[in-house]
Amino acid sequence: MKTLNRRQAINRIIGITSVAAGTALVANPVIAAVTSSTGEWRLAVGEKLAYAKLDPMTVAKLAYETGNGCMFQVFDSIIKSLALSDSPDAEKFALLPTGLAVYGWAGMLGEGTVCGNINATGMLANLLSINGEQANALLSPTMRYYESQALPLQTAEFIEGIGADMTETLDQVGTPTSANTILCHSSISLWARENGKSFSQKGMRCKQLSASVVYELVDMLNKAFDGETVIDHPISDTVAGCQSCHTSESTFAPSVKTNMGCDTCHTGH
Ligand code: HEC
Ligand code: HEC
Repeated sequence: MKTLNRRQAINRIIGITSVAAGTALVANPVIAAVTSSTGEWRLAVGEKLAYAKLDPMTVAKLAYETGNGCMFQVFDSIIKSLALSDSPDAEKFALLPTGLAVYGWAGMLGEGTVCGNINATGMLANLLSINGEQANALLSPTMRYYESQALPLQTAEFIEGIGADMTETLDQVGTPTSANTILCHSSISLWARENGKSFSQKGMRCKQLSASVVYELVDMLNKAFDGETVIDHPISDTVAGCQSCHTSESTFAPSVKTNMGCDTCHTGH
């Protein structure tokens, strides 16, 4: 596992100086409260809800047991867990309409684009605050993990932890594969090729994939909560190399703003 100083990583991810980073990361404290006509709390634009530490395996198991597609599995399991946590915003988490996340299944309504696990992570990162700081910077490492790690996790400990059966898993999921991109399409097609399966047989594999992403994401959220200064899963050295020339300002070629693994789609030059 590759690591990078958190401040460096955050700067690299969002491309700002350390001076700007200090101010940018302080969540805006003056946000007007929004309520419905019946006086019930509603999420205001820019409002952040406080993360409280969760047990990664417990939430991963809940994600595995949750249906309605990968995006809902990830979003609903973490929000439900936060609603039961000692977060000062637990009641607000309980009021969030997690059903909004259902659209993310199979790369958005079956379009095979951005994987729902990643889509859910983006929605969560934008919503959470960690000890008063934005959680946005946790999206990129989740993407890098998703691109590079062979998934779903298949250790005896993990399979048992989420309440799955290893024999059934080996039969229906087979060998874990890395997606190389954040796309549902390549994630599933590469897995299907490796295991001689079809898209329609992805059920258990994708449920375990969501449980795996939840496990890693909650672990990273906990580390951030504890103030750990090292961030897991930075961009690869290859991408950092491409980005040393290709930036959002560069004009020698069309400018570039992405942290996706360039080398999956482009050859070097
Ligand atoms: C040392 C600076 C530098 C690095 C590092 C670099 N590039 Fe470039 N890239 C350029 C320049 C300059 C151009 C435009 C001129 C040219 O075509 O060579 C370019 C052009 C491109 C283009 C436009 C099409 C083309 O081939 O002309 C693509 C795509 C590209 N680079 C991708 C990448 C990727 C992917 C990486 C990392 C694997 C990378 N570059 C690393 C400087 C760089
Ligand atoms: C998911 C696939 C994908 C990834 C990942 C990706 N690109 Fe691209 N990129 C494309 C496509 C497709 C185009 C448009 C190519 C075309 O139509 O000629 C493009 C266009 C470009 C161009 C302009 C090309 C030209 O011919 O002038 C540059 C430069 C470039 N990408 C650099 C990068 C860099 C650097 C990264 C990583 C930081 C990256 N890309 C990641 C797919 C990708």
